[in-house]
Parts: sequence; C-alpha cells; structure tokens
Amino acid sequence: FQLKPLAGKRVLMTAGPTFEPLDPVRGITNSSSGKMGFALARACAEAGAQVTLVAGPCPQPTPRGVTRLDVVSALDMRNAVLAQMPGQDVFIAVAAVADYRPVQAADHKIKKTGAQLTIELTPNPDILAEVAALPNPPFCVGFAAESRDLATYAEGKRQAKKLSLVVGNLVQDGLGGDRNAVTLFDAAGAHPLPEADKLTVARGIVAHLAKLL
Ligand code: C5P
Repeated sequence: FQLKPLAGKRVLMTAGPTFEPLDPVRGITNSSSGKMGFALARACAEAGAQVTLVAGPCPQPTPRGVTRLDVVSALDMRNAVLAQMPGQDVFIAVAAVADYRPVQAADHKIKKTGAQLTIELTPNPDILAEVAALPNPPFCVGFAAESRDLATYAEGKRQAKKLSLVVGNLVQDGLGGDRNAVTLFDAAGAHPLPEADKLTVARGIVAHLAKLL
C-alpha cells in the first residue's frame, strides 16, 4: 500500500455535460451532474497526481490542487483535451458528451412562429476514441453508463475504443445521485466495487488504476 500511488503522474480528465448551442440563449444538453468526475479528480489529486480537469457546464466546486478548464460544447472540450494532451500519462473521460450538435448555431435568437421547426443535428467527435487512437496514447480510461447488459456493453466499449480500463455502472445506480455502484473492466476481467458514496468509489477506481499503471 502506497500513500500517494499516483505521485509523479499527470492525469487529464473530462467531466460534466456538454452544451451544444442552438442560438445565443438556447442549446441541447443532458442532466450529467459532474459529481462522479469531480470526485475522481479529487481522488487522483489526493493520490499525488497532477490533475487537469476539462469541465463542461456544471456547478461542482473545483477540488483542491486540480487545474480546471471550463468549456461549453463537445468541440470546445475536444480542442481543450487535445491541446493539453502532450505529456499526460493518463486520460480519464467521464464527461457525458452530447452525441450530436445542431449543424448551425443561429447568430440571433430564433423567433417563434406558428410553423413547425426542424433542427438538424450532426454527430460530435468521440473525444476518448480519438485520444486512444493517437500514435502514443496515454493510459485511457472510459466510463460506460448503461441501462442493461452492463458487462456486454462496457467490455464491448473497452475493446471498440481500445481502452485500458472501463468503469461501468447501471444508470439507475449512479446518475445524478451521491452514491454509485461500479464494475471495473480491464484486460484481466470484471472487478465489482462495493456500492458507496462517489468519493469512496472514486478512491477505489484510483487504487485499481494505480495497480495497472
Ligand atoms: O460510447 P459512449 O458515449 O457510451 O462512451 C462513453 C465514454 O466515452 C465515456 O468515457 C465518455 O466520456 C466518452 N466519450 C467521449 N466523447 C464522446 C462520447 C463519449 O469522450 N463524444
């Protein structure tokens, strides 16, 4: 047992939702609270890592010792992650990135009329898959929030995105709340962690991560 198992490691993370603008006052987002990502940033910093957290819009306080970069959209998040990438040992993608964004954000407020309005959406880049596909990728950790068949989807995601570790949870166990029950999927198999508050779960993830590094 080591007191600071991530000492000397540089960890880049994403957390929170993204917000995809439709016009200057409106957009598409999701209900990610950012709690799990911020708890994990805190746990990594406590373990001695130098942590940079790229955060979508969420009200969580920045953990002590963590460098926070605030972004809004998925494209902003991707650009911030790629700019911070050189020299990072670990990349942990916790953000609930919007899968799609409006093709165009209007320069001015969209006015209501009696007519139907259609919004055209285009897929966002997969930030984690892009980082994992870099020539010299860092140790990549992904999250998988599923509503069923957790092991199949989480392990499938690990292999498809070429990740070292996937943290899987059933959405009914974690989303928005203060507690979570996760299972860690790595090359050796599935490792369930006991259900606990999110900081305790985050410390469990860090302990496992440190063993794999
Ligand atoms: O494929 P799925 O979205 O379920 O994968 C979830 C994992 O991928 C999370 O770790 C999430 O942060 C990351 N992700 C990403 N960029 C996206 C979509 C997901 O980094 N556009």
